[in-house]
Amino acid sequence: MPNVVVLPGDGIGQEITPEAIKVLKAVLKDSSLKLEFENYLIGGAAIDEAGKALPDDTLEAALAADAVLLGSVGGPKWDTLPAQQRPELGGLLAIRKALSLFANIRPVKMLPMLVEASTLRPEVVKNVDLVVLRELTGGLYFGEKGRKTNPPSAYDTLIYSDEEIRRIVDLGFQMARQRCGKLCSVDKANVLESSRFWREITLDVAKKYPEVELTHMYVDNAAMQLVRYPTQFDVIVTENMFGDILTDLASMLMGSIGMISSASLNGKKGLYEPAHGSAPDIAGKNIANPLATILSGALMLRYSFDLEDEAKLIERAVESVLEQGYRTTDLAKPGDKVLGTREMGDAVVAALGKK
Ligand code: NAD
Ligand code: IPM
Ligand code: MN
Repeated sequence: MPNVVVLPGDGIGQEITPEAIKVLKAVLKDSSLKLEFENYLIGGAAIDEAGKALPDDTLEAALAADAVLLGSVGGPKWDTLPAQQRPELGGLLAIRKALSLFANIRPVKMLPMLVEASTLRPEVVKNVDLVVLRELTGGLYFGEKGRKTNPPSAYDTLIYSDEEIRRIVDLGFQMARQRCGKLCSVDKANVLESSRFWREITLDVAKKYPEVELTHMYVDNAAMQLVRYPTQFDVIVTENMFGDILTDLASMLMGSIGMISSASLNGKKGLYEPAHGSAPDIAGKNIANPLATILSGALMLRYSFDLEDEAKLIERAVESVLEQGYRTTDLAKPGDKVLGTREMGDAVVAALGKK
């Protein structure tokens, strides 16, 4: 039986991952494929129980698993640890690197019934349907970093190899070809040498994809264009940190950060997680939106297990619950039926039953 390693992590990660598993089990009930789920520690929870953010047995299990489902890591309790030991660097970045998950896909699709939930005007966000392809194992996050004395200073290095850029941009072209045929490469080539290199390689890869319309955009302009006229975008491909920032921003094009799912892939294995964090401000209250994690579960079925029908069933069940007016607090406006985290998971399971 294929197995999924589940890493709930910290804060709301503990609350949202069980909801995704509940939905995955429900959708696979009548399917020939069954999945085995096994929980392991990561992040602050792992520091507290096992002494480090990515324990050896977690890494071994993740390396051996067919797929990984992750909640979120981090929280104030561990913020003062040395950087490399923290949940973020020692846990999340470490597992992304160890599994070579270089391609992070973050779909940004506005569902019609959530248009009113966005803080942006309906005519701006309706029909938004884009994907951000974020490079995940290079760039500013993984370059040399350090501190110097006399005078005190600190540095992080943004470095990309030819091969690292080529493989992510190539995937961007493939995705654009399967969608609306438009790829926007986001960089800061007016300032950064690494971005000029990124552009050169992108132009070289483009020769293989004459049917895809390639544009380049500076990251500052991209942030502005995403809220000004988001439907101009189809696929965006970009450097690790630019993609991090742009996807939190883009999540509001869907109404809430609680809606943005993600798949981190390396061609063989996938790790699936919401793009948001552990939300310490709402953790433990049963109010977090579990839909980004539930939708990440759908991405897992699609990309790791080739179960397109079941992935769609989950996506339709989520839409059906929202169509009935059910909302978690982050999406709610007066008159909506507000559900807690667990109740939203139950509602999605119930909607699956009514397919
Ligand atoms: P965050 O995404 O956790 O929260 C930002 C805001 O969005 C908060 O107000 C939070 O309540 C809200 N929010 C986030 N997810 C939500 C959901 N599902 N439903 C409803 N509201 C939601 O970002 P932050 O506050 O900057 O970071 C908190 C911690 O999470 C930090 O330790 C950070 O390093 C970590 N983090 C982890 C991940 C990850 O594990 N992938 C991602 C981002 C941040
Ligand atoms: C994300 C998060 C992480 C990132 C942090 C927690 C290391 O913000 O997955 O978007 O920056 O990649
Ligand atoms: Mn982020």
